[in-house]
Amino acid sequence: MLDLTVDFCGIHLANPLVVAPAGITETADRIKRCEDGGAGAAVMKSYFEDELLRRSPTPRFKLIRRYLGPYPATTLYSFEQASSYGLAEYADQIRLAKESCTMPVLGSIACVTLEHWEQAAAICQQAGADGLELSVSCPHGPQVMGQMDMAQLMIEALNAARQGAGQIPLILKVSPQLDNPTATVRALAEAGADGVVMFNRFTGLEIDLKVEQPIMHGGYAGHGGPWALHYVLRWIASTYPTVDIPIAASGGVSTGEDVAKLLLSGATVVQTCSAVVLRGYNYVGRMVAQLHEFMEQKGYQTLAEFRGKVCARIRTNEQIQRAQDCVAQIDAAHCTACAACQTVCIYNAVTRQEDTYRISPAACQGCGLCAAVCPTEAIQMIPLS
Ligand SMILES: Cc1cc2nc3c(=O)[nH]c(=O)nc-3n(C[C@H](O)[C@H](O)[C@H](O)COP(=O)(O)O)c2cc1C
Ligand code: SF4
Ligand code: SF4
Repeated sequence: MLDLTVDFCGIHLANPLVVAPAGITETADRIKRCEDGGAGAAVMKSYFEDELLRRSPTPRFKLIRRYLGPYPATTLYSFEQASSYGLAEYADQIRLAKESCTMPVLGSIACVTLEHWEQAAAICQQAGADGLELSVSCPHGPQVMGQMDMAQLMIEALNAARQGAGQIPLILKVSPQLDNPTATVRALAEAGADGVVMFNRFTGLEIDLKVEQPIMHGGYAGHGGPWALHYVLRWIASTYPTVDIPIAASGGVSTGEDVAKLLLSGATVVQTCSAVVLRGYNYVGRMVAQLHEFMEQKGYQTLAEFRGKVCARIRTNEQIQRAQDCVAQIDAAHCTACAACQTVCIYNAVTRQEDTYRISPAACQGCGLCAAVCPTEAIQMIPLS
């Protein structure tokens, strides 16, 4: 029997999948749907001190699909800032969610004044939140847009919230738009953060070419998608070995395999948002099942057995083996003569031969791009020995 349970900042979860704060977690009712869908915990949509931001424009979502020829990318582009609730109603929703769920429920607050960080933390703690995310990392929020000193802001928020939060864990949600996220997370750990979320989303801009205007509400917005995963993996892998507080991963998580990769890179829990927005609450359970399958295949009984395992395997520039050790080879039986391999080979190693293609082993530099683009997987990289 596999054990998917995990402790995050002293909060016990039945599995490491956490639904990240967004409209999908704004009410107690939606938080319950997260639990029914298979989540180990959920973080309520952020309460903001600034009342202006509690009302989102319409429409506020756009799914941007982009193609470089046959190669697709998807961006969930959105402008949805604060929970629409004031502090008292926000606390009511936490209370209701705690009554209806057995899984942990965390709050998320974004304040401006130090007094309000303290007050909002106290009210959420009294309402029964199992922990609190402190978020100044909204991609179109005042702090990120104002290019403020994020580390300093977060430490001030942490100290103020600590006054009101009692013993519940305080978790800082970090923007990906930092010069050195590892240094920032280390500073937060030293300042007494119980944990961090790496990361919120990036700030983006999309333009309607017909009217030459920013789309939707006319300003910047948050952008993210499955493509964001690799940035998160990269920074968690380099941060995990340097801090002793737990890391919640967030950004681009679209499958149970993504969850396994983030755990291997050092995350303790993994948050998911866009996947739930687009695929529904039950999709969380599917990701949990995929994680289970990964662990079964690998023979892991617990998450701790593979957490951070990849970090020690990441090579430095000096350690990377640079001598060419393979060439590409086409299996003519699977080649449909589409010419994609020839298009990408800047070394002129690919030539047409009657109704198929051939690679010259002498000219091939072993770069691997032709194998990556071949739509029929007709190209293998063969070791040079
Ligand atoms: C529509 C939407 C609303 C969001 N609202 C919040 C929020 O209120 N507070 C917050 O900390 N993060 C918010 N986020 C960020 C998510 O919690 C999450 O960190 C981010 O989307 C990256 O995860 P994903 O790639 O799985 O979507 C929001 C994201 C989206 C898409
Ligand atoms: S990309 Fe693949 S299918 Fe297309 S020509 Fe090359 S080997 Fe053949
Ligand atoms: S591996 Fe690179 S160099 Fe070799 S044939 Fe393919 S694209 Fe050309």
